[in-house]
Amino acid sequence: MISGTHIWKSFKGKVVNEDVTFSVNKGEVVSFLGPNGGGKTTLMRQIYGELKSDKGEIEIDEMDPYNALDVLGVVPQDVDVMDGLTSFEHIYIMGMLKGLSRREAKEMTEELMERFSIENKKVDALSGGNKRKVLIASALTSSPKYLILDEPTTGLDPQSRREVWNIISDLKRAGTGIILTTHYLEEAEKLSDRIYFLNRKILLFGKTGELRKKFANYYQVINVETGEKYNVREEELLSFIRNLNYKYEIRLPDLDEIYDKVISNEPN
Ligand SMILES: Nc1ncnc2c1ncn2[C@@H]1O[C@H](COP(=O)(O)OP(=O)(O)O)[C@@H](O)[C@H]1O
Ligand SMILES: [Mg+2]
Repeated sequence: MISGTHIWKSFKGKVVNEDVTFSVNKGEVVSFLGPNGGGKTTLMRQIYGELKSDKGEIEIDEMDPYNALDVLGVVPQDVDVMDGLTSFEHIYIMGMLKGLSRREAKEMTEELMERFSIENKKVDALSGGNKRKVLIASALTSSPKYLILDEPTTGLDPQSRREVWNIISDLKRAGTGIILTTHYLEEAEKLSDRIYFLNRKILLFGKTGELRKKFANYYQVINVETGEKYNVREEELLSFIRNLNYKYEIRLPDLDEIYDKVISNEPN
């Protein structure tokens, strides 16, 4: 399990992560969802040991992040492929750096390239989506138990995004614990078992399917003739619809709308 307990991190007096507590189990996909500047990357960098928390504790299978490099694969947000190499060389070299023998690195590279349908070309010439696949494959050469993907689909075209989604689903099925950051609600909902909404603090969290029920204390009543929408609190719903003289539909609000509400409540 990866866990963070009461994590705080500031830059020059500005609090970026405030009292963040979370956990990720093996075989689980957990998303940190939040706007740009919400502190996601800062939190990830503490999990993979690049930054030290000001306060709080992060543990990876009961180790501190500096000793957990063997069990953790990482694709940082701002990382790019190493130009000049072919896809094969890129993944192979990462395997060697992770301590595989030449033979193991070769086999691992072939397997990953086949599994993710990676072409063997100069990485400079690959599309954004294929570069991302090379980076993910490179992070997987050590067969990590956990994988951190910081905004793995930002900037990708829809098809590449779907390919990365498929990779994530496959890895989950194979038992890898995955931490994903995204500002796409749709992506978090589609891929993750649990979601933490992070905007400096954890504003909401829960199982993906339960978030709507848990956090939406209102329903939307929609006039099916005009499309007009009314947000009605649960306790007022019965009396509200009793007085309607048009055809209506009742539904839970979109997670998007819940998200907007949560984000707009963010303390400054
Ligand atoms: N090394 C740094 N020095 C100063 N400020 C930083 C540094 N890294 C991040 N920040 C600030 O911390 C905030 C959160 O950034 P970040 O963690 O990258 O958010 P996210 O990944 O959610 O977009 C931003 O306001 C950013 O400018
Ligand atoms: Mg980021």
